[in-house]
Amino acid sequence: MHSDVVLKVEALQTQFDTRRGLVRAVDGVDFSLRRGEVLGIVGESGSGKSITAFSLMRALPGLSGRTVGGRVLLHGVDLLKLPESEMRAIRGARMAMICQNPNTSLNPLFTVGEQLEETLRFHAKGAGADARQRVLRLLAEVQLPSPEVQLRRYPFQMSGGMKQRVAIAMALICEPEVLIADEPTTALDVTIQAQILHLLREVRRKHGTSIVFITHDLGVVAQLCDSVAVMYAGRVVEYNEIRELFRRPRHPYTAGLMQSNPVFGRRQERLHSMEGQPPDLVAPPAGCAFAARCPHVQPICREQTPPRVAIDERHFYACWRDAPPGVAHAA
Ligand SMILES: Nc1ncnc2c1ncn2[C@@H]1O[C@H](COP(=O)(O)OP(=O)(O)OP(=O)(O)O)[C@@H](O)[C@H]1O
Ligand SMILES: [Mg+2]
Repeated sequence: MHSDVVLKVEALQTQFDTRRGLVRAVDGVDFSLRRGEVLGIVGESGSGKSITAFSLMRALPGLSGRTVGGRVLLHGVDLLKLPESEMRAIRGARMAMICQNPNTSLNPLFTVGEQLEETLRFHAKGAGADARQRVLRLLAEVQLPSPEVQLRRYPFQMSGGMKQRVAIAMALICEPEVLIADEPTTALDVTIQAQILHLLREVRRKHGTSIVFITHDLGVVAQLCDSVAVMYAGRVVEYNEIRELFRRPRHPYTAGLMQSNPVFGRRQERLHSMEGQPPDLVAPPAGCAFAARCPHVQPICREQTPPRVAIDERHFYACWRDAPPGVAHAA
């Protein structure tokens, strides 16, 4: 493995056992993250972005979810194989997550100050007056007004936006090597959003933090990310460096996403929104999950899983359109 690679995710698969059947929420996700790299994960609602993030942290919501395949290598060590006690030492310290919903990461029974200081103490990163100072500094950095007052408050005494900023502070407090941010700014207003993005850039610059940034907002991806994984129906359909992805989207779904987002795509008069719905993840169709919506669909797309076409040694896209001849019979 490239020594620069901090996190490598291979063939990750997570399923939920539901009354309707097995939901294949994450069905073969691959990417790697270098030191100081920001990877964007984009895709429509339900494409498996959050479940990918929770799978990396081994913290799936509910009781019916299981990661059934793949590897999550942190400096070559497969997190999926570690005993929970070792994972607990990593979670929140070397690898931390900002959740889509701040209530997921905050405990209603403790004040904000208690929770932040406890996280530091648990990971042996400081206690007492030092810890207090660090917490205050971080709360100021996430633009929480009057940090001294907020320290003594319980989460229920705060607005959604304030809680999200506390959750961001909680994820950053131990200076993680890998930060997973799941739509961290969606609940915040535009000015604060910009401040948080600035803060994440600073965190990366100062500490070399590697960041997985999940978002619907392709404009944010353009401002923050070095590379992008585009997810569709639980899979990465295209993975490339940001500039290349802008310049030349290879997968028809990526091209569609860009057309429906004026910031991301080329300038155009009219907003183009993609027609159709993603497939049911309990009974996904044979072949390519995007076939039903794809403007370039061919008969083989409805029959066989598309092959991965390599862009370079790290990047790829999965489509029949440009598959080398002969692949159809090999796949
Ligand atoms: N606890 C659960 N039980 C059963 N299915 C679930 C559960 N959580 C998520 N799923 C299913 O897994 C799939 C992926 O969900 P996920 O939350 O990862 O989507 P997402 O890409 O994060 O969407 P959004 O953009 O809306 O946040 C969805 O089909 C969802 O219904
Ligand atoms: Mg989500």
